[in-house]
Amino acid sequence: MDVVALVPAAGRGTRLGAGVPKALVPVLGESLLSRAVRGLRDSSSVRHVIVAAPAEHRDRMERELAGAGSGVHVVEGGAERTDSVRAALEASERIAPSAEAVLVHDAARAFTPPSVVRSVIAELADGASAVVPVLPVADTVKRVDENGTVLDTVDRSWLRAVQTPQGFSPDVLRAAYESVGEVATDDAGLVERSGWPVRTVEGHSHALKITTSFDLAIAETVLAPAWA
Ligand code: C5P
Repeated sequence: MDVVALVPAAGRGTRLGAGVPKALVPVLGESLLSRAVRGLRDSSSVRHVIVAAPAEHRDRMERELAGAGSGVHVVEGGAERTDSVRAALEASERIAPSAEAVLVHDAARAFTPPSVVRSVIAELADGASAVVPVLPVADTVKRVDENGTVLDTVDRSWLRAVQTPQGFSPDVLRAAYESVGEVATDDAGLVERSGWPVRTVEGHSHALKITTSFDLAIAETVLAPAWA
């Protein structure tokens, strides 16, 4: 299967407070962006990778990925994650016109095992239009009102936490981006709202989104050493 991966990496990463975009934050000497792209390439199933970079850091991200292989491209991202994915998706029509599957993978999920990438692609190859890696929710989850008072307890057996890469047939993702104008935190959410079924595959605890300095500490002490 001819697969292109879009990597939105244009976030500021203010919650991490590192002073550089989150994707450029190093973990044991290698940036989150470089690690995320390496994980996609290590799956041996992704032909092209298109990274959406912040305008002012595009050159630096290009340098960062210079050794990542000829199929890696950097384009300018946008103000919101949705804008960054849209920019990379538009570029994919030029860079990978024959792609049969599109993955969207957050640079912040830099330690996603290549096996998760392969599972998503296998489900697409099996005929799915949209696929997300998920994990069961470990915490009890409650809905609260505006004052923080509990309304009820949600049955967590039906809940799943969603990770990336999320996989799509190119036509479905393009149609979702064309028909839904609003901002979304999750590409499969746009596809769902367009009425397409979204299948799930098993995610991995190492695919956590690096958001806070606590996550970064986990990355340095547990995830990066395990990756080798
Ligand atoms: O901010 P958050 O962690 O939810 O961002 C998820 C991913 O989306 C990150 O990899 C971030 O770099 C990317 N992003 C982007 N363009 C934006 C905002 C976020 O590519 N404008």
